Amino acid sequence: MTTREIFETMDYGPAPESAAEALAWIAAKGPGFGHFIDGTFTAPGTTFATRNPANGSELAQITQGTADDVDAAVKAAQAAFPKWSRLSGHRRAQYLYAIARLLQKHSRLFAVLETLDNGKPIREARDIDIPLAQRHFYYHAGLAQIVAEELPGHAPLGVCGQIIPWNFPLLMLSWKIAPALAAGNTVVLKPAEYTSLTALLFADICAQAGLPNGVVNIVTGDGDTGAAITTHPGIAKIAFTGSTDVGRRIRRATAGQSKALTLELGGKSPYIVFDDADIDSAIEGLVDAIWFNQGQVCCAGSRLLVQENIADDFHTRLKARMDKLRIGDPLDKSIDMGALVDPIQHAAITRLVDANTEGQTYRAATPLPSTGCFYPPTLITGLSPAAALMQEEIFGPVLVSTTFRTPSEAVEIANNTRYGLAATVWTENLNLALDIAPKLVAGVVWVNATNLFDAAAPFGGVRESGFGREGGWEGLLAYLKPTAKTLQSKPAAPHAAPKQADIPAIDRTAKIYVGGKQARPDSGYSRAIWSPKGKLLGHVGIGSRKDIRNAVEAARGAASWARTTGHLRAQILFYLAENLSARADEFSARLRDMTGANSKMAAAEVAASIDRLFTCAAWADKMDGVAKSVPIRGVALAMNEPVGVIGAIAPDDVPLLGAISLIAPAIAMGNRMVLVPSHAAPLSATDLYQVLDTSDVPSGVVNIVTGDPVELAGPLAGHMDVDAVWGFSPRAPAQLIEDASASNLKRTWATDGANPDWFATEGQTKRFLRAATAVKTIWVPYGE
Ligand code: NAI
Repeated sequence: MTTREIFETMDYGPAPESAAEALAWIAAKGPGFGHFIDGTFTAPGTTFATRNPANGSELAQITQGTADDVDAAVKAAQAAFPKWSRLSGHRRAQYLYAIARLLQKHSRLFAVLETLDNGKPIREARDIDIPLAQRHFYYHAGLAQIVAEELPGHAPLGVCGQIIPWNFPLLMLSWKIAPALAAGNTVVLKPAEYTSLTALLFADICAQAGLPNGVVNIVTGDGDTGAAITTHPGIAKIAFTGSTDVGRRIRRATAGQSKALTLELGGKSPYIVFDDADIDSAIEGLVDAIWFNQGQVCCAGSRLLVQENIADDFHTRLKARMDKLRIGDPLDKSIDMGALVDPIQHAAITRLVDANTEGQTYRAATPLPSTGCFYPPTLITGLSPAAALMQEEIFGPVLVSTTFRTPSEAVEIANNTRYGLAATVWTENLNLALDIAPKLVAGVVWVNATNLFDAAAPFGGVRESGFGREGGWEGLLAYLKPTAKTLQSKPAAPHAAPKQADIPAIDRTAKIYVGGKQARPDSGYSRAIWSPKGKLLGHVGIGSRKDIRNAVEAARGAASWARTTGHLRAQILFYLAENLSARADEFSARLRDMTGANSKMAAAEVAASIDRLFTCAAWADKMDGVAKSVPIRGVALAMNEPVGVIGAIAPDDVPLLGAISLIAPAIAMGNRMVLVPSHAAPLSATDLYQVLDTSDVPSGVVNIVTGDPVELAGPLAGHMDVDAVWGFSPRAPAQLIEDASASNLKRTWATDGANPDWFATEGQTKRFLRAATAVKTIWVPYGE
């Protein structure tokens, strides 16, 4: 082509990045790869091929990890843990810094290897994946340095099992390994079977950085290897990123194993364009939202919601832009879209799109390479909100689009999904953007931008997009546990009826408390509560599955509580404390009667309950959000939001303090609660009805269902409209709660009765407040 022709056509010439260095590395270290265990590469075992999806050529042979391999890696990580966790933060920071520097020094090698193995454009690997991975290690070198000072009373968890997907192989590895190491844990990480190479190169880097043996172990393989990690008894925490289906399987597999768990799962994130948006920018944003990484992004803006009056124009301009996208060899520096990761993904996307019979499908008029795993940029308009493609994650370069008329309709459509990972809002009206952002059910919201990430900014989802955050202090906390001792609470059996009963003249039967009203339990049964000395103290209703459902419905109905100010909630909590204090003697007497506690103990429990209400009132308007220091011209606001409806099962040993310690932090943060009080001693909770009624707690905010946790824990933990479940009674086994919670992947905190010391004050309430909040990160770039 002559210079003149180039000027006339303005065509791109080829700009290929050389694969030579990366292929040489594979040839030198492989081409058959074993695992990286205890600081050395093992000999390859049974292997499978990893291929370049752009042309189908085999790159290397990867070992399929066995249960024995996983066991060896866990043992190495266990052996390394005591010394690593006791190193000074400064020393750990030095190691993380060394890794960050080595990632920078080898950045081109990492970028090319990633592109070869995954099929993503070299431009993205070079400018996004690898720099963000480096940033993660720098940031966490800093956190390692200061964690001991900033988070006293915390300790690392132990060996962390980390399972990552194939869409951002090195970046997801960094999101997992950097915080785990900074906090003092050791790790066993499994990369995805399609994309193991950069993890193996990273293992090489760990050796170069002189990282002590066993601190990082990489075991390769498929889902079976992953399953062996999730069930290994030597692992203290599982961190998973991948599909919602596998996340749900992992939730079930780890139920009752006392493992910490964070899940970063799928999404169907809305991309909302208002009619006053800067349309050209919104279209460029959309290119990044859905065609970045071929749409294989968990937080891809895959659901376009465009205001009706601009929809036709927007779609026309979008199609014109789609036609200009360049698809081809991922190593070519001037292409926009590379190859899908594997023919299996190609087939899955093709199947989903071809099965759709609704709306209009537009495929970009842009040439595709004749071989390799390529799929055209696709737009589907005119789908109904319930259409499968509007609801299902496609995980490819396929955008679905619908329209809305008003902001409230936009919010309604945006939230009409079982997911809640991310959302994007485009409008020139900042008031509108900042009005909409809090209303979107998502862990991350981008305003006039999309797909912004940083190590300082928490990332993660709500609903079936999983739980837990990665990045920032929030992400670090997910790799730490409190050092405060737990006290094993014993399951207290209700006191038996005496042979000779002492029956009071007037019968008192406490009902259940639902929607601010006392209601008869659906079962129509109640049971007597006896004092240890054989005095009949009253009766309580025996709540059932149906009562739990009613209570959850009432709690759902009290959604406006989430929108009240912290100031209002503080006043109500102070008022609760005041009213409880006015009846302190009566509550003390009740505790004495029910539990046989002496006067001093009973009075102390009431006093501690009042104290806890004060603490939660204090925090109601002080769990501040923060502006995260992210490297853009703009801010990332990390806002604490309520989790939603929390189901809680109170402990037996401190019937009043236990109930208050769960209710108060939950409602202080704007949640609604369904509480199952102490089974053995429920009357101090049922006595609370009047205190709640007289303290301006709106109906439905606190609901109390008496009954046996053995019966009620399952329905509560499995309920699709409950967002989190806390179980502090040994009668509500963690196994049952965690297993049932997989229904909608709600957050859980289940102790099997190994509870915090309810009387302790230091740090105690903060833990509950954190459990009662979900961080939403709202990115707001500056500038015209
Ligand atoms: P996947 O969820 O099966 O794979 C993710 C990781 O989990 C891989 O390392 C895999 O080996 C491992 N794994 C699979 N089964 C496991 C098990 N039973 N126990 C433990 N680990 C297990 O995702 P896959 O099959 O690669 O992709 C399927 C779909 O998942 C995609 O089409 C996409 O919709 C979604 N996906 C979502 C991702 C996200 O970031 N949200 C990432 C990757 C996939």
